[in-house]
Amino acid sequence: MELKERLIVSLDFEIDTQALALIEQLQDDVVFYKIGMQLFYRYGADLVKKIKHQGKKIFLDLKLHDIPNTVVSALKSLKDLDVDFINMHTLAGQEAMVKSKDFLVQQNWNTKLIGVTILTSLNDEHLHQFGFHSTVQETVIHLCQLAKSANLDGVVASAQEAASVKEHCGQDFITICPGIRRATDVANDQKRIVTPADAMKKSADYIVVGRPIIQAQDPKKEVKLYFEEMEKGIHHARK
Ligand code: C5P
Repeated sequence: MELKERLIVSLDFEIDTQALALIEQLQDDVVFYKIGMQLFYRYGADLVKKIKHQGKKIFLDLKLHDIPNTVVSALKSLKDLDVDFINMHTLAGQEAMVKSKDFLVQQNWNTKLIGVTILTSLNDEHLHQFGFHSTVQETVIHLCQLAKSANLDGVVASAQEAASVKEHCGQDFITICPGIRRATDVANDQKRIVTPADAMKKSADYIVVGRPIIQAQDPKKEVKLYFEEMEKGIHHARK
């Protein structure tokens, strides 16, 4: 896969014109964008279509989390969008994952179905608060295995877990990793942070970056720095 395709810029904006202006500013430098709840709840399918029409790849990050019937019904409503990746929470359960994937297959829908494991804003302490007795690492691997057995195409996890995910679920199982920060970036609310270089070393297929790029003084320059670091990580991993 080309390096360019492995950076997904998260369009976490309030207003559609802000997102469209960033896409215009970044030109061909960025080919993959993530649209999440913030823009989708307000602008819906029209905005997704507009960005797709510009030849961009799209990860529709709605993190569907409900009973099996409701998740499948939501997917039915999203079917015409023909995005590249769409996601649901693995904690919606095995039945919800199996039925969702079956629905995509029946519809000949090529969109990859991705399972969200444990959010990158959570750490071991948070899991403990929930009453979970295993670590983030153990829980993520467990949820990945469930997702894999439900035939999902991959997972969202921290790059801290990516190598282990590949080990347990195979090299073709897609790893999409948010919580990415360069050494000089602020963490914000993210807890399981990894640098772009380390993410590449640790087998992340894709990294998702929001605030460090979209709130930068010069997003184009920031994108360039991210690609440079990713390149270094790939180079190092090949050695
Ligand atoms: O600004 P930042 O780089 O932290 O943005 C990360 C993006 O990835 C946000 O849109 C967030 O919703 C999303 N995300 C995440 N952790 C997950 C799944 C998605 O941070 N586990």
